[in-house]
Amino acid sequence: MIALVHHGDEKRGRAWREVFAHDLPDVDFRCWPDIGNASEVRYLVAWTLDDEVMSMLPNLEILFSIGAGIDQLDIGKVPDHVRIVRMIDPGITQTMAEYVAMGVLALHRDLPRYVDDQRSGRWFPRKTLLCRERSVGLLGLGELGTAALAALAPFGFRLSGWSRTRRSIEGVECYAGPDEMDGFLARSEILVCLLPLTPDTRGILCRDLFEKLPRGASLLNAARGGHLINDDLVDALDNGRLSAALLDVCDPEPLPETHPFRGHPSIFVTPHVAGITRIETAVHSLIANLQREASGLSLAGEVDRSRGY
Ligand code: NDP
Ligand code: OXD
Repeated sequence: MIALVHHGDEKRGRAWREVFAHDLPDVDFRCWPDIGNASEVRYLVAWTLDDEVMSMLPNLEILFSIGAGIDQLDIGKVPDHVRIVRMIDPGITQTMAEYVAMGVLALHRDLPRYVDDQRSGRWFPRKTLLCRERSVGLLGLGELGTAALAALAPFGFRLSGWSRTRRSIEGVECYAGPDEMDGFLARSEILVCLLPLTPDTRGILCRDLFEKLPRGASLLNAARGGHLINDDLVDALDNGRLSAALLDVCDPEPLPETHPFRGHPSIFVTPHVAGITRIETAVHSLIANLQREASGLSLAGEVDRSRGY
């Protein structure tokens, strides 16, 4: 018997168990805490981990993340021989692409400033640029960064992107690695972060980076709160270096009621909803990956633990 344990949202667990019973009956789908004979459990699906779960699964082979990111799993707790796989789900990809398109258009058309004007009783039309007169830069050209660029392309924005290794994307000026970062930043009037959170990228959205952007640039962070140095963002907005920020992710989450971001006129926050793992679609990505595993094929989204993503 090969078993998989689902840890997390009970409604999702029940729904996925039904799909597994129909589409992949060879894998016994169990919902935490009813794990049955723990020695049969080879796969774990989870958003976060606690020590109890890991200590109860001696024969675990693969840990599947419920999300596209894996930093929330605290992989230091995962034994070296356990493979880690992030979620590549059309639901996450599409919702993220829609969110980035929504946010970039809002920043491009000065929505944050008009909302502030409205609240302050001002009526003050500003100069309107065409999309083709605006440069948008994507930090991260993976699954989500490339989907976001594809959603932005039809508007005509001048697009660029930055990744660790060189990418080639039609219609996008691609930059790679630390040596090319300054050139990339210098042309990013709207900067979108879709990087994984790793030791190399933690705190990347900081004063030093903001100073390399065109004056008055704006920021959209839909990756992780740990990418951003919160105080540096507030300073950059208050001194005019940046004009607005849309944050889907924060550190900490949820954002405390008294947090300075809450009342800041140039900061807009959404509660970590940009890319949503869809119950209906993600289960099929998981099943397809288990079928690949059974056929000895490589897994979609397998994490290289030495890179951290
Ligand atoms: P991928 O692994 O597909 O892509 C990551 C990209 O970042 C790659 O282009 C990679 O470069 C680049 N990158 C990684 N490290 C560096 C570095 N040190 N320097 C330069 N570039 C780097 O990830 P996804 O696109 O699937 O997801 C990105 C992140 O989005 C997730 O890790 C998660 O944190 C976040 N997320 C947020 C959600 C939300 O609701 N707010 C929802 C889903 C995900 P290369 O191409 O060379 O490998
Ligand atoms: C994810 C997320 O990583 O929702 O998928 O943040």
